[in-house]
Amino acid sequence: MKIRKAELLDTSKLFALEEKLFLSENFPLSRASFYYHINNNMLFVAEIDSVIVGYILVLIKRKNAKLYSIGVKEEFRGRKIAQKLLEFSIKELSSIAPKALFLEVRVDNIVAINLYKKIGFTIKKKLNKFYLDGCDAYLMELNILDKKKDSFE
Ligand SMILES: CC(C)(COP(=O)(O)OP(=O)(O)OC[C@H]1O[C@@H](n2cnc3c(N)ncnc32)[C@H](O)[C@@H]1OP(=O)(O)O)[C@@H](O)C(=O)NCCC(=O)NCCS
Repeated sequence: MKIRKAELLDTSKLFALEEKLFLSENFPLSRASFYYHINNNMLFVAEIDSVIVGYILVLIKRKNAKLYSIGVKEEFRGRKIAQKLLEFSIKELSSIAPKALFLEVRVDNIVAINLYKKIGFTIKKKLNKFYLDGCDAYLMELNILDKKKDSFE
């Protein structure tokens, strides 16, 4: 598996993957959003035999960063692809400004919550009715400086 920066030519493939990953109430990214984020934020893809099997999008702010989205094609799940995408992104982030990485996740998305806890994220608070279907979200945080001490030094 190879992880690389997404390119504008990947836009259609990423959008097709997104449509399979997220229902409309979970704020899926549009084709135009992918185009924008490829140019302006941290968007990495995981590739196997030149096929995009997963992606991660991290929005870069001045002091912090936000894990906006991560997804892996259904038939490639359970192979640590998401974990590697996250670790790759955190390593990239640790070399630039942000001190913390935040995310919101549906309280019923146990798989994703497990993944984030495994990486070291902690739940900061519950956001009531965050999603369009009324589902609550957890706001989770990872201290990038701590992670850097643990893993990259
Ligand atoms: C969440 C998602 C990205 C995980 O991708 P993945 O590549 O299958 O995950 P990994 O193989 O890297 O798993 C890493 C860890 O996540 C957790 N995890 C993964 N699959 C799990 C499952 N079926 N049940 C419980 N925990 C699970 C575990 O902690 C796992 O570590 P372990 O294997 O040592 O126990 C994938 O299920 C997905 O794309 N879901 C749909 C989109 C989504 O919900 N994205 C997150 C919200 S933005």
